[in-house]
Amino acid sequence: MDIKKQLNDVRNQALKELDDIKENTDIERWRVRYMGKKSQLAEIMRGLSDVPIEMRKTIGATSNAMKAELETALIAKEQEIKNLELAKSAEDAIDVTLPGRIQHQGHIHPVTQAIEEICGIFEGLGFQIVEGNEVEWDHYNFDALNIPKEHPARDTMDTFWMKGGSKPETDWKMLLRTHTSPMQARTMESTPLPIRIVVPGRVYRYEATDATHLAMFTQIEGLAVDEGITFADLKGTLNEFVKRFYGPDRKVRFRTDFFPFVEPGAEIAVSCAICGGEGCRVCGNSGWIEISGCGMVHPSVLEMAGIDSTKYSGFAFGLGIERIPMLRYGIEDVRNYYSGDLRFLRQF
Ligand code: PHE
Repeated sequence: MDIKKQLNDVRNQALKELDDIKENTDIERWRVRYMGKKSQLAEIMRGLSDVPIEMRKTIGATSNAMKAELETALIAKEQEIKNLELAKSAEDAIDVTLPGRIQHQGHIHPVTQAIEEICGIFEGLGFQIVEGNEVEWDHYNFDALNIPKEHPARDTMDTFWMKGGSKPETDWKMLLRTHTSPMQARTMESTPLPIRIVVPGRVYRYEATDATHLAMFTQIEGLAVDEGITFADLKGTLNEFVKRFYGPDRKVRFRTDFFPFVEPGAEIAVSCAICGGEGCRVCGNSGWIEISGCGMVHPSVLEMAGIDSTKYSGFAFGLGIERIPMLRYGIEDVRNYYSGDLRFLRQF
């Protein structure tokens, strides 16, 4: 058979196979097959001894050129595979130049923020922070606050009663406190005078919820008892609070109001920040927003706690907390606070 043709066939076959190779392991197999000691090429070369010398020369040259050609093709192929592998590993790798993913961090709930800020202001005015129980005896929630059993004021605070909760040897019944005021009675009963406390905490009312009402909400109670405390102290304290919390431009309005545990009683309103007192949706067109009930501690309440009402007097107030950030930020629905919607909460 024509050796030149044979060589050419081997070359074509080798280059074609090399072209199809996509992985390193196949390259190795290809090298053994076409360039190793047992390759067809080596076989042909060994058979050259039978060929006349003149012809042997030209065939030797051809086969050397062919060997060189295959080697060059092999190097090119190896480089190609290397590039492919690099590109592939780059696909799986982390691109350190990409911006990081945002890790959302929890933060303090707007109502808690308000509690901390308000308590901080009262602390600065000399008040101590105490906390009470959310589950309370009706004795402290009502009776000790001058709201006896058949008093109509019990009905104005729709109460969650605890099933079967009663105190042995008393007629006390357990409830979820409807306001933070029971801590007035408890503190007066157990703490030496003078008293200056604020009590932040959750309170509960058996009410339908809407944009301005919740069955669970937050109050901060304030109480000061000492010799010679007057209504002027109450006004001065709350004026100072409003000024520090809302800024110097807001007006404070005191109007008479009734609560069984204070006498005289008042309601505090702050001029509406949203309309500047002109009247708008948020303030119900009145220009004012009520933030608190307050008054001078009723002498009967002092006496029930064992305090001599001829010698001592006190003032008390109860701030509704949810409203306070509502006014500041123009939040229109109180239910947003506890809906668990992070789109709302992350704004604060
Ligand atoms: N406890 C009253 C309420 O929840 C508010 C209040 C507190 C009024 C202290 C007077 C004095 O409505």
